[in-house]
Amino acid sequence: MGSEIHVQQHEPIAEIDPNLYGHFAEHLGRCIYGGLWVGEDDRVPTDDGIRMDTIDLLANLEMPVLRWPGGCFADDYHWEDGIGPREERPTRRNAFWTQGRADIPEEPNEFGTEEFMRVCDLLDAEPYLAANLGSGSPGEAADWLEYCNYDGDTELANRRAENGSEEPHDVKFWGVGNENWGCGGRLSPEQYAEEFRRFATYLRSVDGLLSEQDVELVSVGHIHDDWNRKFLDALSECASFTEGPYDLMEHMSVHRYYEAGSDTDFDDEEYFRLLARSRKVGGDVDNAVDALSVYAPESDISIVVDEWGVWHPEATNTNGLEQENTVRDAISAAGVFDDLHERADVVAMANIAQTVNVLQCLVQTDEEDAWATPTYQVFDLYENHAGGTALDTVVDTDAHEVEDEPYDVPLVSASASAHGDEVYVTLSNRALDSEDVTVSLDEASASVADSAVLFADTEVDEYSRKDNADAFTPGEIDVDENGDGIFEVSVPASSVVALTVEA
Ligand code: AHR
Repeated sequence: MGSEIHVQQHEPIAEIDPNLYGHFAEHLGRCIYGGLWVGEDDRVPTDDGIRMDTIDLLANLEMPVLRWPGGCFADDYHWEDGIGPREERPTRRNAFWTQGRADIPEEPNEFGTEEFMRVCDLLDAEPYLAANLGSGSPGEAADWLEYCNYDGDTELANRRAENGSEEPHDVKFWGVGNENWGCGGRLSPEQYAEEFRRFATYLRSVDGLLSEQDVELVSVGHIHDDWNRKFLDALSECASFTEGPYDLMEHMSVHRYYEAGSDTDFDDEEYFRLLARSRKVGGDVDNAVDALSVYAPESDISIVVDEWGVWHPEATNTNGLEQENTVRDAISAAGVFDDLHERADVVAMANIAQTVNVLQCLVQTDEEDAWATPTYQVFDLYENHAGGTALDTVVDTDAHEVEDEPYDVPLVSASASAHGDEVYVTLSNRALDSEDVTVSLDEASASVADSAVLFADTEVDEYSRKDNADAFTPGEIDVDENGDGIFEVSVPASSVVALTVEA
């Protein structure tokens, strides 16, 4: 019978923030060291130690924002260790990704704030820093903000200039800790509310002195609704607010990871189970928005999903959270983006975990080469939505039920956005057979200007290796136009299609 997608051009949702296509790079395994930074190694082209083959691939994605240095790493990172002459920087253990593991080296601090800012410059990406709330102090966090953004005549601003950056870095996004309900100190929601108020107060005191860049603070939220509600409730318990307590943050974060079966060895039911679980990202956003509507109904705090993606059992602490990256993973990412577009009015940013080599990475490297994963191709196709207006998109399709999962899997997932006279439509066929899909728009004069398909000729368990990355690049697909703004596409099994429509 096929599936039908109707793009309601006259039902705009909101602008899709380009930061939905954001990334996350942590000092963990080979993400930074080996993936983005090789220092003196001359086996790959570098820019003062930064690995340019990785950068070239990422630059092609027009990465909007990059979160750093963690993750759990952030809550035991002392930023002053990573500035100044590299040969004088201390080697440290980190409480999470280095301590006590012989196979993961200590943190050499070769890659610090200035190196990170250089990566952001090369990628033209907005930096997003996660401050250390777990083992750091509010003063240390405020000093980092001063070092990065202050343009006056203070010791810290002058130190930045001595380190090569006369102009402030104008870092807009600041995370106030990371997962402080877990690795970042195992705090109760009430304890985190207290710490958050303290840290945010000192960060805001520097923010008030900045002439160029207003700072946006991101609080730590949880996928457990109860935690969010207790945190937001406890935040209000302070007698001396000149502003409301909820003015201390612009965003609240949630993190969501999922798996089903192994990275490359899964049956059909596990294939669908992973897709069902990836739908939790949208559910987490809805829960966080509901909690905010109860405790901070007057605020316009938005949601930042600053870690998301597939975390297979093969990614263990001892291998630096590396796993194979399959077509199945990439198809799940397409569905997550559709769900985020539907929530474009409340989601300000999302950051896949992680950019290079770790978890659902977009780029993998060895000592000589860098190559793109299937998920990279989904980002490349989907990021054309960035900055457009998300349009309500109605999908009429069968759903695959998965036992014991709260979400089923609609066999076709889709989203659309308006860009002036163009509408960009993306859809994925998650069925394991091809599916006839009819796409219709409100405007009868609409016609397809461009089309592309991903994964038409690959199996769902195929994964990227150094020698096969071309297998995942987009191909052409036929689209039948039968007038009245209606298009028909035979969408291959487990594939992703994009249509650019002139409307
Ligand atoms: O991305 C890997 C880890 O997952 C991060 O360090 C942490 O924030 C999360 O639990």
